[in-house]
Amino acid sequence: MGSDRIFGIDLGTSNIKIYKKGDGIVIDEKNLIAIENKKKIIAYGDEAYEMYEKAPDNIEIIGPVKNGVIAGFRSMQQLLTLFFNKPELKKGIGAKEFYICVPTDITDVEKRAFYDLIASSNIKAKKIHIVEKPIADAVGADLPVNAANGILMVNIGADTTEISIISLGGIVLSKLIKVGGNRLDEAICQGVKKNYNLIIGSKTAQSLKVNLASAIKQEEQTMKVMGRDLVTGLPVELAVSSNLIYESIKEYLDTIIDSIKIILERTPPELSSDIIDNGIYLTGGSSGIHELATLITKETDLSVNLFTNASQTAIEGIGKIIENEELQSLAYAMKQTIYNV
Ligand SMILES: Nc1ncnc2c1ncn2[C@@H]1O[C@H](COP(=O)(O)OP(=O)(O)OP(=O)(O)O)[C@@H](O)[C@H]1O
Ligand SMILES: [Mg+2]
Repeated sequence: MGSDRIFGIDLGTSNIKIYKKGDGIVIDEKNLIAIENKKKIIAYGDEAYEMYEKAPDNIEIIGPVKNGVIAGFRSMQQLLTLFFNKPELKKGIGAKEFYICVPTDITDVEKRAFYDLIASSNIKAKKIHIVEKPIADAVGADLPVNAANGILMVNIGADTTEISIISLGGIVLSKLIKVGGNRLDEAICQGVKKNYNLIIGSKTAQSLKVNLASAIKQEEQTMKVMGRDLVTGLPVELAVSSNLIYESIKEYLDTIIDSIKIILERTPPELSSDIIDNGIYLTGGSSGIHELATLITKETDLSVNLFTNASQTAIEGIGKIIENEELQSLAYAMKQTIYNV
């Protein structure tokens, strides 16, 4: 009775996204857990994010994924279990099957942790499939991944940027660098502190980034933010300039572009010609930086394709793989761990 319940999971540094076969994306929340007195879980997901930078010292807000890999195995497992106990995910009675996406340029041990996370949990999975994240992104972007055609996929997320060349359903080259939206937020905090003697939180920095950041210098704009004066220790409101935001994030955008250039230099010529024809596919939440595509085109001479749902392309790709029989070959099984045999 009842058909299998099939789920897709994208565990990001900033957000956790879960797809359910037949239902679509059912979860897109912050990948955070709030723990009181080192023991009791008091909130998770978006609710834990609400508490971020507002909680007293005995409440710890933990993000179990760092730099694209699982840094807190136990908290990640607790968090997943909590999500899978939600009614919209629990619904149905069939066995559970999972498709989980993993960054390509990480170690085998780091990849296996994504598998073990589910295999050793009490979620009771019948089957666990792995999908390389750049492949998931390309499928989500509706690109012909199985064709003999080079695709340059760039995902700028929260902690990482993954730059990959795809052809014939596989990954030809991939590089994961530790630069993403969080690094830009940190740079903005530091810039504001240095220039205005103002201490701001990371949520304020993020809002300055979303509203004022541009990869190409624009006419000056300002935004008022609340912070704490470094000298007096008192709360003050100050207008922050877009020029300062531009100067603060510039070197990190350059790092991303340098890495794209390195991958391009290593790309086999037959695939390079496809990339010159089709341009770069830019996804991930941080691809939303204003004028980033213009800067990348200026520096690489390649056109840039953007997506409106940039932070969801990977989970949408997993969803398509789950729903379409002919895309099944893009997912693979991981061998059992020794201690599981
Ligand atoms: N409009 C925007 N402009 C700039 N940055 C944005 C915008 N919207 C979201 N971001 C940034 O996107 C990031 C989240 O993107 P995404 O959901 O792709 O990350 P993730 O998958 O959790 O992280 P990762 O892939 O690094 O593990 C955050 O750093 C957020 O600040
Ligand atoms: Mg991501």
